[in-house]
Amino acid sequence: MVNAHFLNPIQEGIKENILDRIGNTPMLNFKLPDNDKVNLYAKLEGMNPTGSIKARPARYILGRAFDEGIIKPGDAVIESSSGNFGLALAAYCKKMGFHFICVADPYISEYNRQLILYYGAEIIMVDTPDEGGGYLLNRVRKIKELLVERKDLYWINQYANKWNAETYYCTLGQEISNEVEHLDYAFIGVSSGGTITGLSKKLRERYPGIRIVAVDAIGSKIFGMPPQKRNIPGIGSSMRPEILNDAHIDEAVHISELETIESCLSLLRDHYLFLGGSSGTAYAGVHEYFKQNPPIGEVNALLIFPDGGEKYFDTIYNATWRQKITGISIL
Ligand SMILES: Cc1ncc(COP(=O)(O)O)c(C=O)c1O
Repeated sequence: MVNAHFLNPIQEGIKENILDRIGNTPMLNFKLPDNDKVNLYAKLEGMNPTGSIKARPARYILGRAFDEGIIKPGDAVIESSSGNFGLALAAYCKKMGFHFICVADPYISEYNRQLILYYGAEIIMVDTPDEGGGYLLNRVRKIKELLVERKDLYWINQYANKWNAETYYCTLGQEISNEVEHLDYAFIGVSSGGTITGLSKKLRERYPGIRIVAVDAIGSKIFGMPPQKRNIPGIGSSMRPEILNDAHIDEAVHISELETIESCLSLLRDHYLFLGGSSGTAYAGVHEYFKQNPPIGEVNALLIFPDGGEKYFDTIYNATWRQKITGISIL
């Protein structure tokens, strides 16, 4: 039996605990600065508890696993993440009474590492690079080893867990459907594929003619691009996630780190929006797409902005880091 509490898409009203106030995030509406035919609707997902869109799947998946009798308070939950999902799972596991083991790698930021530990989780570091030059494959191997040794672990496995996508169908997709009367396009960043898989299904039902544009980083292997070192977390992956098989995607655009950085800075300067890297990538994706495909009449385009800029203060918002990564001075 599914506990309706976890399926309630929109959590409104006064709450005792901030973790119970997921969703119902602000929606902004503004014109694309260099093309006033493009009417943008931007959903600010960094306003969720723990500062990102990942509060949604963390709570939803734990809730579903609890309702289905897969986990009970006192059990241990494991997941591979160095970023927002690790942070969100650490907070929701603590609140719901599960022990969380976060399998991370040396790319984890000090910000995330400290917060995950404050939320009482355990961090297992994997510091041997895999054959692809990253750590993801070795992080997953480490989890598989632990699952053989310990029978009490529940592996979330965001890349293949259907509840990851279902989260966005039931929550974010429902909210947007209530808020916006008509949409022609949606630009959605991809990493585990949960957001685009669940959201694209809901958006297609609600706005049948909508075009879904996946936004990915250059060097990510999700859509078959040759791998390349990527420095901005949150977007892209070194493998194609299994849940993407159920996504409705019309096309994909690939964005460079330079374009991501410039877009983050322009969102800050022109719109007072202090946002994370993947938001800049999505915004750059909209510019790139409409440069290649100029709209004939007015169009409405949805953008998802997954997190805020705080975690990127020492990188995207730091001139020295920008120069080191791009080789040019971006002020
Ligand atoms: C900042 C940020 N943007 C975008 C995404 C991509 O979302 P998804 O994993 O649902 O594809 C993530 C996922 O971790 C993220 O942390």
